[in-house]
Amino acid sequence: MGSSELDEFVERVTERTDIYSVVSRYVQLTQKSGRYWGRCPFHNEKTASFSVSADKGLFYCFGCGAGGNVFKFLSLIENITYFEAVKLQAERLGIELPQKKSSPEEERRRREEKILLKINEVAQDFYHECLIKTARGSVGRKYLEARGITAETIETFKLGCAPDEWENLFRELIRQNFSAQQIESVGLIVKRKNSSGYYDRFRARIMIPIADVFGRVVGFGGRVLGSADETTPKYLNTPETVLFNKRKLLFGLDKSNRSISSAGAALVVEGYMDAISLFSAGIKNVVATLGTAFTPEHAKLILRYAQKIIFCYDSDEAGQRATIRALPIVQAAGAQVFVISVPDGKDPDEFVRKHGAEAFAELIKNAIPLVDYRIKYVLANTERATTDGKLKALQEIFPVIEKVRSETELNEYLKKIAAALALDELILLNAWKKFSSKREPDKNSAVVVTREKSSAEKNFRLKKATEDVLRMLWQDDNLLDYVRKVLMPEEIFSPAQQEIIEWIKNCAENGKRPDQMSAAAELSEAAGAELARILLDGEGAPLDAEIAAFNDSVRFLRRVLLEKKYHELFAQAEKFASNDEAAYVKAVEELLKIKKEIDNLKRKDKRF
Ligand code: UTP
Ligand code: MN
Repeated sequence: MGSSELDEFVERVTERTDIYSVVSRYVQLTQKSGRYWGRCPFHNEKTASFSVSADKGLFYCFGCGAGGNVFKFLSLIENITYFEAVKLQAERLGIELPQKKSSPEEERRRREEKILLKINEVAQDFYHECLIKTARGSVGRKYLEARGITAETIETFKLGCAPDEWENLFRELIRQNFSAQQIESVGLIVKRKNSSGYYDRFRARIMIPIADVFGRVVGFGGRVLGSADETTPKYLNTPETVLFNKRKLLFGLDKSNRSISSAGAALVVEGYMDAISLFSAGIKNVVATLGTAFTPEHAKLILRYAQKIIFCYDSDEAGQRATIRALPIVQAAGAQVFVISVPDGKDPDEFVRKHGAEAFAELIKNAIPLVDYRIKYVLANTERATTDGKLKALQEIFPVIEKVRSETELNEYLKKIAAALALDELILLNAWKKFSSKREPDKNSAVVVTREKSSAEKNFRLKKATEDVLRMLWQDDNLLDYVRKVLMPEEIFSPAQQEIIEWIKNCAENGKRPDQMSAAAELSEAAGAELARILLDGEGAPLDAEIAAFNDSVRFLRRVLLEKKYHELFAQAEKFASNDEAAYVKAVEELLKIKKEIDNLKRKDKRF
């Protein structure tokens, strides 16, 4: 379907959708002061902080920050994409989907993909049958039994066994009319080097099917029966194919995604067997990476279901290093990150088999936040007996705590570190000051830096002011240029807010009024929720009051911006003072100019 047809379809569905009736299918709502309220379905709560505005067609939870329009709600609660939510609602309303016309090329690709998926499915069944029914599979059955894997788990994960023969699967697939070229392209067979023909890639191995989120088998992991050596690796995996991309796949996600959403957290382990073992022990919100590093794609995949990611990598050195590498990735993706260390050098599989699910649940409860974990890691890996070693440790720890945003928390960390390194707190504080004055100002935390310097009241006002401005921009994009000129959004607004501003600007440039529908479809999760919250907050205010608030807020933000510039320039001027007279004078002149404007703004603002 063309894009205009699509727009029309979405519009038709929107028109006939009423957010109240959709949400009330899932949440019990009661009316109070012009809005509906209920207990948020996206996080656990006892009081109702989830609100729905029927007029605006928006929902927002004051507890967890989830928010958006009706399709956003559906996509969150049903774990589907935004467009799937539109389609679901269309189906419920009995609105027919416009017919999709695809190119012959696309058609051909889809048909081919279907065949390749079918080959994997046949292979899965073949290995599975071999394991549970045949004499050749008895060695596999014994192996799994010895590892404590039950028949039920074998069924759940459709585990299998590749026989110790060269062309078994190959012959079966050819018999079922698949071509050698197709079978090779999913990685199940390998071309012979010195003669014609092919042989089975997986032989004499326990076979673990790997599925995508939809449960379609896209590849396999094959574990050697018994122990590995130099010639036979412990695991052989499907190579990269059109269906199989390790960077984008998480083993087990097809089975665990519901539990991940309801638990609000995903447990990430390293090994297939760890995931299988935990899942069968009843800890179902678990996924495993496929023997590769954790990627931003993995993070995104998980964030579709939960905000919290708990790493539970092996407690050996390699596992710890892998954890450390994964952390900045998840942090950047906006997840809340925790780490579990499994005691006595065990992997999660061994631990849960020996101590049981309750003991593992206890480990989850005691998972430590990212920063603490990294501090612990650095401390464990540095020489702490000498002053030199201590200072080196600090240089590794400082970049870690630099990301901590609250002043109180930061102070607590500094205290902890002082204690751990047996360093005088004042010496540590001095070292920290030196470090933090040297670092580049972090663009993203512009507001935060200013916030930390200010009183709670100022914080609150800063937040409110950015919201007033955004609300006004939403109504009148003519103000965009003005706001951008006096405020430098990248210094004042949060990343989510900047995204909203950019988006409004784009709409304006394309001659489009910003509207809820396209905002929800085009903005990221965070920005969409932020926008919903801001718009709901301003609901019902008279326009002249909004304009007054806008002017007031712009002035206030301008002042915050100038004060920040002033501090930066001041630090620079200090440096110039000793070595560059001309630059020093120029900086001071500029400082005076800034100061004057700040004073002017202060005079107009009676509140400060
Ligand atoms: P592990 O050796 O920790 O896996 O490797 P495991 O699942 O605990 O194995 P068991 O318990 O000995 O059966 C972690 C992951 O690294 C990948 C696999 O994805 C494995 O699950 N790996 C490991 C390979 O791809 N190839 C290998 O040779 C070894
Ligand atoms: Mn293991």
